[in-house]
Amino acid sequence: MSQATPRSNEPLIHHWMPFTPNRQFLEAPRMLARAEGVHYWNSAGEKLLDGISGLYTTPAGHGRREIREAVAKQMEELDFAPPFQFGVPGSFRLAHELTRILPAPLSRVFFAGSGSEAVETALKIAINYHRARGQGQRQRLIGRARGYHGVNFAGWSVGGMVKNREAFGLGLPGVAHLRHTHIPENRHVIGQGPHGGIDLADDLQRLIDLHGADTIAACIVEPIAGSTGILVPPVDYLQRLRSICDKYGILLIFDEVICGFGRTGYPFAAQAFGVTPDIMTMAKAITNGNIPMAAVAVREEIQQAIFDVAGPDAIEFFHGYTYSAHPVACAAALATLKLYRDEDLFARAATMAPGFLARIADLAHLPCVIDTRGYGLLGAADLAPGASPGARGFAVMRRCFDQGLVLRVTGDTVIFSPMFITSEDQLDAMFTILRRVLETI
Ligand SMILES: Cc1ncc(COP(=O)(O)O)c(C=O)c1O
Repeated sequence: MSQATPRSNEPLIHHWMPFTPNRQFLEAPRMLARAEGVHYWNSAGEKLLDGISGLYTTPAGHGRREIREAVAKQMEELDFAPPFQFGVPGSFRLAHELTRILPAPLSRVFFAGSGSEAVETALKIAINYHRARGQGQRQRLIGRARGYHGVNFAGWSVGGMVKNREAFGLGLPGVAHLRHTHIPENRHVIGQGPHGGIDLADDLQRLIDLHGADTIAACIVEPIAGSTGILVPPVDYLQRLRSICDKYGILLIFDEVICGFGRTGYPFAAQAFGVTPDIMTMAKAITNGNIPMAAVAVREEIQQAIFDVAGPDAIEFFHGYTYSAHPVACAAALATLKLYRDEDLFARAATMAPGFLARIADLAHLPCVIDTRGYGLLGAADLAPGASPGARGFAVMRRCFDQGLVLRVTGDTVIFSPMFITSEDQLDAMFTILRRVLETI
């Protein structure tokens, strides 16, 4: 697979790329020029398999006609309308449609443009809720080590990525963290590990003992930590978090930006693990990756508490984005939800999961693989570190790309998140490429 070199009339240096080693990229750009189904084509016209559903965004496959047509129709009818003080029909329909797949108590939906914005919104709702109920001292936010909640200030502060602290300093005050949930005993365990780990949830109790429950607004976790390498929660861990939050009036927020929309075989991980949060963020797969969009779902009582203290003509929640509930994004999301329903794609994800996870487990036999994990259609393999941290992971990603497979690495961890429409043969082809690369790395 050729890595197209920039033509002299393409001044690539002007685009400062996100989460990318820009200088290295310019030496050998990995350009994706076209996509359809489970495939990309690079700018040289060569075909690649997509092993990560866009970026967890595109489980129904690239280039879906139904979404394209809905977007085009919406753009002809109404390209934009101000979301403050005015409404568009699609957003009300979409909020209603979402409640059909959300866990029942989550029945009020606020729209945003990205996962990071959804996280900020969720945290602000939590603080606003407590203030509305006369508990304004509840300002503290609890996150978790190895959590990822996007790039905005509150999000990275509650997140548990060391690199954010190295690059941006202290972050938001009043934030504390639980330990992450990956325990050595669960090495090479696929699914929820049988070897304990529920006590890790008691970190929340310890933070309550230290800081006082009446200072804590919310605890935010990804049900399965995605970006730091698919860390599956121990059995009953989320249940324990839920009961501690209930005992002390702390809101539990699930960040389902990766886990949502069928990735676990259920609409949301909340249903997969049988634990319902008070607030849930979602984004990535909401429009099958076609148009940026995100949402926050809350229990009705939370909205009601905020409404109750506002005057009848007052803006109840002083928050919103220019692109909240963008009509074109709403049209894309409605068409996407219809596709998921019509093609029963969440059930298809559940059916695919055992075979996919068996392939992940099989990677454990390779000498360079030191851990394998997975749940639903999320799988990861940790590689023994190479010359420097992340070097081996990066090399694997590049070689896979050269051999026709797009996958994701974080440090020395390889992540797979296939589309729900991937065939068994295509899965085999993806793992054949990865194995070949891992055998020679
Ligand atoms: C769990 C989680 N929350 C938030 C985000 C941020 O989403 P975005 O990149 O759309 O801002 C991500 C992105 O990967 C995520 O995985």
